[in-house]
Amino acid sequence: MCGIIGIVSKNEVVNRLIDGLARLEYRGYDSAGIATINSSEIVYSKSTGKLVSLKNKIKENPIDGHVGIGHTRWATHGEPIEINAHPHVTKNVAVVHNGIIENFAEFKDELLEKGIIFNSQTDTEVIARLIEEKISKEKCGPLEAVRLTIEKLRGSFALCFIFKGFEDLIVVTRRGSPLALGFGDRENFVSSDALSLSIFSKKICYLEEGDLATLTSDEVKIYDSFGNSVFRDTQILYTDPINLSKGQYKHFMEKEIFEQPEVISQVLGYYLDAFEGTLSLPSLPQSTEIKRIILVGCGTAFYSCLAAKYWFEGLSGIPTHAELASEFRYRSPVICKGDLLIFVSQSGETADTIGALRFAKKYTKNILSVVNVEQSSIARESNWVFPTKAGPEIGVASTKAFICQLIVLKILNIKFASDLSKISAKHRSNLLNGLLELPRLYAEILSQNENIKQLCKKFIGSNSVLYLGRDVLYPIALEGALKLKEISYLHAEGYASGELKHGPIALIDKSMPLVALNPWSKVFEKTLSNLEEVKARRGKIILFTDKKGRELSKDLTKSIFQLPSCSEFLTPILYSLPLQLIAYYTALDKGTDVDQPRNLAKSVTVE
Ligand code: G6P
Repeated sequence: MCGIIGIVSKNEVVNRLIDGLARLEYRGYDSAGIATINSSEIVYSKSTGKLVSLKNKIKENPIDGHVGIGHTRWATHGEPIEINAHPHVTKNVAVVHNGIIENFAEFKDELLEKGIIFNSQTDTEVIARLIEEKISKEKCGPLEAVRLTIEKLRGSFALCFIFKGFEDLIVVTRRGSPLALGFGDRENFVSSDALSLSIFSKKICYLEEGDLATLTSDEVKIYDSFGNSVFRDTQILYTDPINLSKGQYKHFMEKEIFEQPEVISQVLGYYLDAFEGTLSLPSLPQSTEIKRIILVGCGTAFYSCLAAKYWFEGLSGIPTHAELASEFRYRSPVICKGDLLIFVSQSGETADTIGALRFAKKYTKNILSVVNVEQSSIARESNWVFPTKAGPEIGVASTKAFICQLIVLKILNIKFASDLSKISAKHRSNLLNGLLELPRLYAEILSQNENIKQLCKKFIGSNSVLYLGRDVLYPIALEGALKLKEISYLHAEGYASGELKHGPIALIDKSMPLVALNPWSKVFEKTLSNLEEVKARRGKIILFTDKKGRELSKDLTKSIFQLPSCSEFLTPILYSLPLQLIAYYTALDKGTDVDQPRNLAKSVTVE
């Protein structure tokens, strides 16, 4: 899985392919490559590591051409080494691929028996070899060779091909993985996502499932899976191209954490009229018709689903489930009339979440998505879309997008609760006013970042950290632990405080740091008792609490960070912030690659 791009033009394309790949690196960054056609021959350059290595390699050994394809990889089949980097090139064809070919092994065996030699361990090379056979043995033209080859493939793919002898042609096709086309002046473009095209063209269209297309510099022709010539609606992109500048910050993650007061104001401004105290929401299903809510997401997005489960049941009284997308579609879930399915995703391109959404669509039209990328597949395939308005998030570990997911889900919660008369008008207005306090509270916590940095010293020499939270802070403990794992590679686990005694307490000794979230609330004393159990076993407690909680916990630990007092309704959003900072400063201390941690991708577009 990966990001792919192609440009066919009257001008040189290599530098622009690299610019486009820079905007696709969120899909993978373990190796990259570019192929072009020069004097009718395929030329290519590949490199392991980040895109910058490829850029340097091309600077030393330039390649050029007026047609080219590029790829940034997140390894599925075969290690992230140069031979496995895309494009995969044979005598007549070069291909870049996003997706997985499930039946590649059977073709590989057949080709090996015929004496074909493979250079890589990838599934993608099989496609190149099959097409090569069609061209050199069966004398097929490029489009025909692609069409006949993809008929046999199982799995998901977005593919771009260039061909020896064709200096003005790219052939593309997709099934399962997305592809957008961009239309320019005597040049045309293709990419895994529309946002990466926005630096080249504002006029775009999306290929549909099974489509095949040919791009020349003057013309784009699209064919459906039956080979019929078709038109796909074009649209104008109104979003600004992704800004790849970190400004005054060392990392995108740091920037994205520190811009949260502004970003929160932005999302609140989109949904709330602060002056009138009213909500202005996109269309959505009638609250009275919702009998159950099923929230679905992966990774961080799943934790916002879990937090929302507490909220929807607690305030709106609607039975709610939170589901991991990768489990949901394969465990035969029961979807009933009256269920509202909410899919949560920053990128809107996570394969597991898209798969779950498509599965749910077989049973219901009640599909709502909460996404950050408004042009994404999940947004396009949903019946109602609630954008999170966090702006482009570049750091792989989600921060501001997670907070905006929580806010949007909270707003939906208030809307449902109010429509169902579970809360009074006054209560509703208090809740909305509470949300408007968030930018100020965030700025207050951020101004104490140095104190949080100091607390991270408690992790020095530890191999593992536990995060504890109860009630709606439990999902936040899970997210805090995930954040730490993702970017500092320090093992961390989140637990519901009450669960500690049922197993994890065995891990506690004097070297074990434990991050506890325990502001004053209806469950404060219960969690305090759990923390006493940790203290009795000499665990190192780092406590996040409020003024009242601090007074009542002064004998528990000296490592206390006091957050502003706020209603229980806001604590999950507020207590997420110091945990983001903890992960960031710990990673900084360990010298890891904060924005592009090893083995991860911002958007995982394979199952
Ligand atoms: C990847 C990222 C995670 C992210 C998850 C869901 O695994 O590494 O940080 O939470 O995908 O991404 P989404 O774009 O669907 O929110």
